[in-house]
Amino acid sequence: MTSYKELGLSNTTEMFKKAVAGGYAIPAYNFNNMEQMQAIIQACVETKSPVILQVSSGARNYANGTLLRNMAKGAVEYAKELGYEIPISLHLDHGDTFELCKDCIDNGFSSVMIDGSSHSYEDNVALTKRVVEYAHKFDVTVEGELGVLAGVEDDVVSETSTYTRPEEVEDFVGKTGVDSLAISIGTSHGANKFTPAQCTRNAEGILIPPPLRFDILEEIEKRIPGFPIVLHGSSSVPQDQVAIINANGGKMKDSVGIPEEQLRTAAKSAVCKINIDSDGRIAMTAAIRKVMVEKPEEFDPRKYLGPARESLKAIYMKKNENVLGSAGKA
Ligand code: G3H
Ligand code: 13P
Ligand code: ZN
Repeated sequence: MTSYKELGLSNTTEMFKKAVAGGYAIPAYNFNNMEQMQAIIQACVETKSPVILQVSSGARNYANGTLLRNMAKGAVEYAKELGYEIPISLHLDHGDTFELCKDCIDNGFSSVMIDGSSHSYEDNVALTKRVVEYAHKFDVTVEGELGVLAGVEDDVVSETSTYTRPEEVEDFVGKTGVDSLAISIGTSHGANKFTPAQCTRNAEGILIPPPLRFDILEEIEKRIPGFPIVLHGSSSVPQDQVAIINANGGKMKDSVGIPEEQLRTAAKSAVCKINIDSDGRIAMTAAIRKVMVEKPEEFDPRKYLGPARESLKAIYMKKNENVLGSAGKA
């Protein structure tokens, strides 16, 4: 058993309390390798932002759970070395079984998500409650989910979304004892969120997707005032980065992400954790493709992973400063 406390990590309790009161959201960035971890920590130290490092089961399969945990431990030391201590949480993203959550709790994670959203309401309650009971013995915080997002949720692919039913949230939170709740109000996972045909054009000719269902969010907030809410699938799919990918041999589809202004509005509410993975993937891929095309003689991974890390860091800094509002809050 390794407690997250021994690793210098924080659970999400204080982070969320301050974020809800302060009208901002904590960035939850996924990582699978060293360069992503470095970019996240550098960006969050430079912007003085708390951060949630997210590990999916896919990331554990790809990189090895033990290595990722020790990288998170290293991240705490690394942040100090960079000159500013920030709260860092290590979070399991989309845990789908009690056993997986337990394994993470027993091995240094400070927070876990149990995603029972593909089950019936009753089974979701039972599974989530079981994880909460175990996690709370060790001060590990738990995120549950109600409603289904469209797109790819780890190994679960959902074509359509089911919005969270506000009438269920009070009962779910009360019965399970979760510390935060992921909801479905129109965001979706992955880089292909909305096709241009699903969007309208604003006065400047920019494609705008169907707005998030802020009415559902408001209804939820009325029923569980001040309770920490989480938004998944919140990448904005930066069009300049997609253009770089496609100009350098890539084949990304025309797609529109969640507008930054809508995320900013959400961050001012009880939404206190915003999950972003795809934008990082896009930024890294754009930088790597550019080097590959412009400097075909290069074969040193540092020559393309270095620029990818820089680009990722720049994207995260902008998000903390202009979208989530978490800059300066650590
Ligand atoms: O919501 C899913 C995250 O973007 C993680 O994706 O399962 O491919 O690591 P992954
Ligand atoms: P994106 O695919 O929009 O980045 O969402 C990531 C996510 O929700 C991770 O849990
Ligand atoms: Zn997600």
